[in-house]
Amino acid sequence: MILGIETSCDETAAALVTNDGRVLANVVSSQAKLHARYGGVVPEVASRHHLELLLPAVRQAFDDSGTRLDQVERVAVTQGPGLVGALLIGVSAAKALAWARRLPLVPVNHLHGHVASLYLEPDPVEPPFLCLLASGGHTLLLDVRDRRTLEVLGTTLDDAAGEAFDKGARLLGLGYPGGVEIDRLASDGDPEAFSFPVARVPGLDFSFSGLKTALLYTVRDLGPEETEGLRADLAASYQHAIVRALVERAEAAAQATGAERIAVVGGVASNSELRRSFSNAVFAPPALCTDNAAMIASAARFIEPIPYPQYLALDAFA
Ligand code: KG4
Ligand code: ZN
Repeated sequence: MILGIETSCDETAAALVTNDGRVLANVVSSQAKLHARYGGVVPEVASRHHLELLLPAVRQAFDDSGTRLDQVERVAVTQGPGLVGALLIGVSAAKALAWARRLPLVPVNHLHGHVASLYLEPDPVEPPFLCLLASGGHTLLLDVRDRRTLEVLGTTLDDAAGEAFDKGARLLGLGYPGGVEIDRLASDGDPEAFSFPVARVPGLDFSFSGLKTALLYTVRDLGPEETEGLRADLAASYQHAIVRALVERAEAAAQATGAERIAVVGGVASNSELRRSFSNAVFAPPALCTDNAAMIASAARFIEPIPYPQYLALDAFA
C-alpha cells in the first residue's frame, strides 16, 4: 500500500492506493474558498493551511480505508512543479512519515501524477496514447508510450488553459476558481454570440493570452450593465474558444504521432463542453481530474523509490 501526499497548490491531499492501483482512500481538502477573496491562490496562505490540514487529511485517509500507517510500504509525494513553499510542507511531512517507519520515499512530478490518474482502477487506460493535460498551471500535449515514458510535444507559450478560464471568470465578475463557474454559466449561453480569436501559434503549442485580452476589450466596450446581461453568452463564447483550441491541437498531435487514442487529464478535463467536444477521447474520472493524492500514489508505482534514509536531503522544485 502506498501513502500519497499532494500539496503543490491549494489542495491538501492524502490518499492510499494499492500496488495494483486500487484507491482505498482519497482525501482532498480544498482551500479554494480561503483564497477566493484574493481572486487567486496566495502562496504563503496556502503553505500555512497545508501545515494545518495535512496531518488531519492523512489521518482521515487511514480512517476512511480502515488501514494503519504500519501497513504502508512506500510514501509518495509531489516534489514539483508547484508553489515551492506549499510543496515543502508535503515533502517534509512525507519524509517524516517515511523516516519514522524506515520506509522508502518516492518523489513524484506533479504532471506525471496527472497522467497516472488514468492508470487507477476500475478502468485503467493502457498506453500508448496522446495525452492532453490541461490544468491551472499547465497545458501540455504528451506522447505517452508506456507508463514510465512520456514526451512533451507541445505546451502553452503563455497562460495555461485553466488559467485562461480563471482570468476570464475574473473579468466576468465570477468567483475563484473560475473554470467551474464559467462551465456552469456557459450552459445558459450562446457559444456563437461572440467570436473570440485563438492565436494559432506554429507547431503543437498553445497561446491563450490574446483570448483573455479579447474578452477584456469586449467587456470594456460593453460596459458593466450590458456585460451583466450578456454574461452567459460571454462565458459560453469564451469557453467555446478555449475548448476549440484544445481539441484542434490535441487532434493534430494525435494525427502527427499516429496515436489511436486521446486521453484528457487535469482540472480542465472536467469541463463539460470539452468532454462533449472530443469525438472519441478517454477522460480521467472527474474526482481525479483536479489535484489529488491518489494520482501521485499511482505515479509512484512506476518510479524507483529512494531507500531510507537517502531521501532526507530531498528538495522540492518550483
Ligand atoms: O489540475 P488542477 O486542480 O490544478 C493544477 O494543477 O493547476 O486544475 C485547476 C484548474 C483551475 O484553473 C480551474 O479553473 C480548472 O482547473 N477547472 C475547470 C473546471 N474545473 C476546474 N476549467 C473549466 N471547466 C471546469 N469544469
Ligand atoms: Zn494539477
